[in-house]
Amino acid sequence: MLIDIEKASEILLCNSPVAIPTETVYGMAGVINNEDALKSIFQIKERPFFDPLIVHVNSIEMAKRYTSNWNDTAQKLAENFWPGPLTIILDKNDEVSSLITAGLDRVGLRMPDHALTLELIEKIQIPLAAPSANKFKKTSPTQASHVEDEFGVSFPVLDGGKTQFGIESTVVGVFDEKVEIYRPGVITRNDLEEILDIPVEHTISPVAPGQLKHHYMPQIPITITTNENEFNQVENLYKWKLEDDAAFVARELYARFREASKKSFHGIIILYKEEFKEDENWKGVLNRLFKAKTYEI
Ligand code: TXA
Ligand code: MG
Repeated sequence: MLIDIEKASEILLCNSPVAIPTETVYGMAGVINNEDALKSIFQIKERPFFDPLIVHVNSIEMAKRYTSNWNDTAQKLAENFWPGPLTIILDKNDEVSSLITAGLDRVGLRMPDHALTLELIEKIQIPLAAPSANKFKKTSPTQASHVEDEFGVSFPVLDGGKTQFGIESTVVGVFDEKVEIYRPGVITRNDLEEILDIPVEHTISPVAPGQLKHHYMPQIPITITTNENEFNQVENLYKWKLEDDAAFVARELYARFREASKKSFHGIIILYKEEFKEDENWKGVLNRLFKAKTYEI
């Protein structure tokens, strides 16, 4: 059910979840100051409690209220990339429920770049915990109808149109001496290095986003390949030869997964280029493809 800001704030303040638009993917939002609201997010997504939630704010000031170590690096990142697709992980303080952080002592903070959601947070004056609005391990939604397809037409969605970037935010752990990228996204290592004078590393963290082996999966299996001959020979699958533009592919990615599943193909095959692996601009898309794939040939 498509709703407006007025209705969305009413539902949220009753401690129930609402799907919200962001510039990356739609989020399944709940107010951060109520345990029932937080629990219902996990329940409806069928998400295990060990996977922490991102806290969405509408200002740097609001973000600072939830961490005990907002440092120069966090300030620089926020000033340069917020509002925008960057989640900053810092030490949490007592204002943050351990339900949000899955018992960890760090919290993910992000100011999304979507006018409706920023206005919604402004209206209720409470940050929103919001994972992507999909069932656990499944493909993230990039438009309101995707949320309705997954959770039913009566589920409340604040409709903000098609999302601008198409894949989830870059998630970074911020420390005094370095920044670690846990989940690559549209904001790349090069972008971060350009404004920071401490090292920026890609890292695998057991508690970080999408570090589970399978994630972002559509209803049908995906095969990925760099072998054009193999790709050309395949029949009866939904075929997608990736265009050279990583930003374009990111925007299209999840909608294509859904389209293929709907058209009753038995699977998807995606052709990409070996050289993408060495290109920072492709890190986000390839990360999602490798988590979503069933086969590689
Ligand atoms: O673009 C996005 O980030 C979207 C939109 C809705 O904002 N949100 C999103 O949330 O992708 P989610 O929950 O699907 O993915 C966030 C990931 C989780 O997998 C979680 O592991 C990681 O961020 N994360 C959150 N808080 C963390 C923390 N304190 N430490 C490590 N990882 C954390
Ligand atoms: Mg997700």
